Amino acid sequence: MAGLFITLEGGDGSGKSTQSALLAQWLVSEGHTVVHSREPGGTDLGLELREIILHSRGHIVPRAEALLYAADRAHNVATVVRPAMDRGEIVIQDRYLDSSVAYQGAGRVLDGSEVRDLSLWAAEGLLPDLTVLLDLGVAESRARLDADEKVFDRLESEKAEFHDRVRTSFLALAAAEPDRFLVLDAARAIDELAEAIRVRVATLL
Ligand code: TYD
Repeated sequence: MAGLFITLEGGDGSGKSTQSALLAQWLVSEGHTVVHSREPGGTDLGLELREIILHSRGHIVPRAEALLYAADRAHNVATVVRPAMDRGEIVIQDRYLDSSVAYQGAGRVLDGSEVRDLSLWAAEGLLPDLTVLLDLGVAESRARLDADEKVFDRLESEKAEFHDRVRTSFLALAAAEPDRFLVLDAARAIDELAEAIRVRVATLL
C-alpha cells in the first residue's frame, strides 16, 4: 500500500493530540506502521524553530512568522513525512499547512492564498489524504486552556477576535475541500470523536 498522510487541525485546546494518539493506537493495533508527527517541532531543527516561534520575547513580523512555520514544514516533510510515506507507512500529524493559512493568513491578516502557496512550495506540493478538523468555539477552547493552567505561548495569548478569525478560516478551508476534510464538533465526547475518525480512516485503508 502507498503511504497515507492524515493531519489534524483545529484551535488550541480542541483535542488534536488526544485524537491523534487514539487514532495511532488503533492503526497500530490493526497492524499498520504509524509515524506520529507534529508541526511546529516534528524534527530537531523544528524544535529549535518552535522555541523561537512560540516563545521569542521580541515581536516577530507576520511574514517572518509565516516563513518560520514554512521552514519547519519544509524540513519536516522532507525528512519525516515523505520518507515514511515512501516506506508505505501512515503519517498522523498534528497541524499542517491549513494552520498556516488560518493563523498567519486569517489570524495575522496575510493573504491566505499566498500563505498556502508558500507552504505548498515548502512542502513540494504535498497535501494530506485526509484532514480532520476538530472545530471548537473560542470560549470553550479558552476554558479548556485555562483549566490546564499552562502558560500561554505567543499564539495562544492572542485575543478572542484573532482566534475567531482562525476558526472561521478553518471552516472555510474545509468547505472549499469537502473531500479532504472531515469536520467534527470537538465538544463531543472523546470516544465518539475517535469512532467517527476511525470510520472515515477505514475508508482509506
Ligand atoms: P501546537 O503545537 O498545536 O500548540 P500546543 O502544543 O500549545 O497545543 O501549535 C503551536 C501554535 O502554533 C498553535 O497556537 C498554532 C500555531 N501554528 C501557526 O500559527 N501556524 C502553523 O503553520 C502551525 C503549524 C501552527
